[in-house]
Amino acid sequence: MIALGCDHGGYALMQEVKKHLDERKVAYKDCGTFSEEACDYPVYAKKVVKCILDGECENGILICGTGIGISITANRFKGIRAALCGDCFSAAACRQHNDANILAMGGRVTGPGLACRIVDAFLDTPFSEAERHKRRIAEIDEA
Ligand code: RB5
Repeated sequence: MIALGCDHGGYALMQEVKKHLDERKVAYKDCGTFSEEACDYPVYAKKVVKCILDGECENGILICGTGIGISITANRFKGIRAALCGDCFSAAACRQHNDANILAMGGRVTGPGLACRIVDAFLDTPFSEAERHKRRIAEIDEA
């Protein structure tokens, strides 16, 4: 199950992403926002983070206007690795190398066609399980 969250700046692109996930028959939990009315991205970032840290969802997709505020918020939480991606190479690499558990995108930056390909690269790429990557990920949380 994928947790989805966006603010008003990401709402339109999230509707496209949801259509794509429906076509792929990928299950998701939509944490909102549910309209283009202005709202605060940290609220939705935190809802998605909670779903992942509680184990309800395996990973998440967050979209705000740029993807910046919503990914900064998510990355404040230990165990969350949110990757802001605007290309497929980065979306695959963040899974392979960083075991990213949240894909962040910018609704005012990335068009729907590319965004859906980025989602595919994120969902279809496994973590490499290489020791060097595991070590580096563990080092992220070290003081
Ligand atoms: C909202 O206008 C915008 O600031 C927000 O969507 C996001 O881009 C913040 O990083």
